Amino acid sequence: MPSSACHYLYALMGVIAMTDMNCPTTLGADLPLDDRGLAYGEGVFETILVRDGVPQLWSQHMARLTRGCMRLGVAVPSDAALIACLEVCGGRGLEVLKLIVTGGSGGRGYKMPDQPVPRLRARAMPFAVDHQARRGITARVCELRVAEQPALAGLKHLNRLENVLARREWTDAAISEGLLLNVRGELVEATSMNLLWYRDGRWYTPWLDRAGVEGTLLTALSAEQPIEKVRLGIEALLAAEQVVLLNSVQGIWPVTRLLDSEGECLNEWKQGKSPALDIVNKRVACLLGERVD
Ligand SMILES: Cc1ncc(COP(=O)(O)O)c(C=O)c1O
Repeated sequence: MPSSACHYLYALMGVIAMTDMNCPTTLGADLPLDDRGLAYGEGVFETILVRDGVPQLWSQHMARLTRGCMRLGVAVPSDAALIACLEVCGGRGLEVLKLIVTGGSGGRGYKMPDQPVPRLRARAMPFAVDHQARRGITARVCELRVAEQPALAGLKHLNRLENVLARREWTDAAISEGLLLNVRGELVEATSMNLLWYRDGRWYTPWLDRAGVEGTLLTALSAEQPIEKVRLGIEALLAAEQVVLLNSVQGIWPVTRLLDSEGECLNEWKQGKSPALDIVNKRVACLLGERVD
């Protein structure tokens, strides 16, 4: 791990803790066939933007990972084990660190083992900001409707089949994201991003208490900026002055064109000066460790 990242994280934890960590050499190892994450999706994951060795929004990612493990009954890896995952990063430029925690092996069918031993895996990939998408994207409304499951809502658990099916709905490279609605026709999020829109001086986002992933960037932004949670359908977007998608790796993508699932244009938003978006863009840039002029 680059020493800058080490120092940053140990300062964050307020401790020097190199004991009790998973052996770094296993971080990239294959999962055995009886792993409960592989068999049942029992586990959680995080994809974390790492800038010059420093993970961004680390505390928000750790909070969601911890919440997810606790909800699933998977033991939470120690802080030291999680920090040691930064070993897989090169430490220069932009990378995406993917952490996976599974319920480990054992148990009988769905029944968990009496003493589950979780598995922690980590992988880093180089990343480049999509500057074109940051200027504006085309999104479409997905046909698939997401199910409601309050017990799993908000978590970044390993069962992402709805997202996979939704993402299979289009192949046109000009379409960057797909919006997901629930079975009631209410907005939830995008296939891999959260959703925000602006109207009459206020930012809105869908409730994520029945479905969807509570994004770490959305959580961090909500702490700095009033964002009202609502249960509304697609008509809310058609009346919006600005629609944006966001996640902790890509940042903010303004939606400039919204298509229905047949490819018909539902609405267009002009790129241009938007003071409300400028403010949010600056806050997000700060939250993701970008240089802000
Ligand atoms: C379905 C979904 N919603 C929301 C998000 C945003 O989460 P975060 O801001 O933590 O990246 C993601 C991130 O990948 C996601 O996959």
